[in-house]
Amino acid sequence: MTAPAYDLLLTGAHLCTLAGTGDDPIPDGALGIRDGVIAHVGRTADLPAAPDALARSVLDVSGTLVTPALVDCHTHLVFGGDRAGEFEQRLHGASYEEIARAGGGIVSSVRATRAASEAALFEATLPRALALRDDGVATLEIKSGYGLDTETELRMLRVARRIGGATGQTVRTTFLGAHALPPEFAGRADAYIDEVCERMLPLAAAEGLVDAVDAFCERIGFDAAQTRRVFERARSLGLPVKLHADQLSDSGGAGLVAEFDGLSADHVEYASAAGIATMARRGTVAVLLPGAFLCLRETTLPPIDAFRAAGVAMAVATDANPGTSPLLSLRLAMSLACTLFRLTPDEALRGATVNAARALGLHDRGRLALGQRADIAVWNATQPAQLCYWLGGRMLRQLFIGGAPVTG
Ligand code: NIG
Ligand code: FE
Repeated sequence: MTAPAYDLLLTGAHLCTLAGTGDDPIPDGALGIRDGVIAHVGRTADLPAAPDALARSVLDVSGTLVTPALVDCHTHLVFGGDRAGEFEQRLHGASYEEIARAGGGIVSSVRATRAASEAALFEATLPRALALRDDGVATLEIKSGYGLDTETELRMLRVARRIGGATGQTVRTTFLGAHALPPEFAGRADAYIDEVCERMLPLAAAEGLVDAVDAFCERIGFDAAQTRRVFERARSLGLPVKLHADQLSDSGGAGLVAEFDGLSADHVEYASAAGIATMARRGTVAVLLPGAFLCLRETTLPPIDAFRAAGVAMAVATDANPGTSPLLSLRLAMSLACTLFRLTPDEALRGATVNAARALGLHDRGRLALGQRADIAVWNATQPAQLCYWLGGRMLRQLFIGGAPVTG
């Protein structure tokens, strides 16, 4: 008797492959998994033998929607404390920029994060990662940027790395030392950028803690020249870059990060036409962050039509962070991207799967196609629009990461 062809076979699914082939979605789909990767995609009716003869284990998922597991390509999940007080200040009319200039904002999370031990940060972060997982996220990015000194930045990145081991998710780490100016460098932004480039980033990279490098290029962050220095250092270390770009004003960030063949330009509400053209040329993904847009009550929409017209791939992420986007559901971010930015549900789903993977430089996930990692979400839904239509609620029936069912 020959060994079964697959370790696991899902049958009867409404399969959204996002594979770019003609037949998508596949009604009555069958998905075969072997050694943690996708080994068969087709119709259940076209299987060459009875499912039981083909696989060690068969799961009839009739009546469900099956998609690639979600990828959250922009989070600040590791931080101490929270900023509920600032939320209340904003409700009374203070703006994010005013709070930042008055010594609050990012810097207040820096104080709380510096004061937290590695164990405390891990304890605080774990439930956030699990909340994302409960909503279908198998891969997430986690940034540093609330330490702004070598010791705390490294501590944050170590916690980020440990999260993946604890939850089974893939975690991609991003060094965001140039997130804000720490108080001890007040009035000396260039000296702080020296510290970032000459000490913090090389040390973090040497410890294997950095998959990509980010910065905050903005009036209340760093200017284009300072951002460029960080990017040049990243390039010299062989690390890809991305950027918090053009969130509150046109700071030329979209074009700058694209010029460095950046993985993504994130936020991009104020991205210029020239910036968008450079993104299109260099293949830089636009990462849309509707949680921050909502919480800051922004009114300038990201230039979605221009991204579409230029062929710039769009991703959607939570931007989960204590200040501008305390959002722990990527599915809710997809919903907000539809309602606030008028993405189609199909664009939102691509934005949280295949395009988000691309924004992390990952090409082995985000689609249900032969050879892709078997990171698969089975939903209590029948069409992608339902994933975006429901605000909250539990829609995930089962998540597979690397072919293994997630339990607990
Ligand atoms: O993506 N804009 C800068 N960084 C974060 C906010 C960080 C914070 O306020 O703590 C963002 O919105
Ligand atoms: Fe962010």
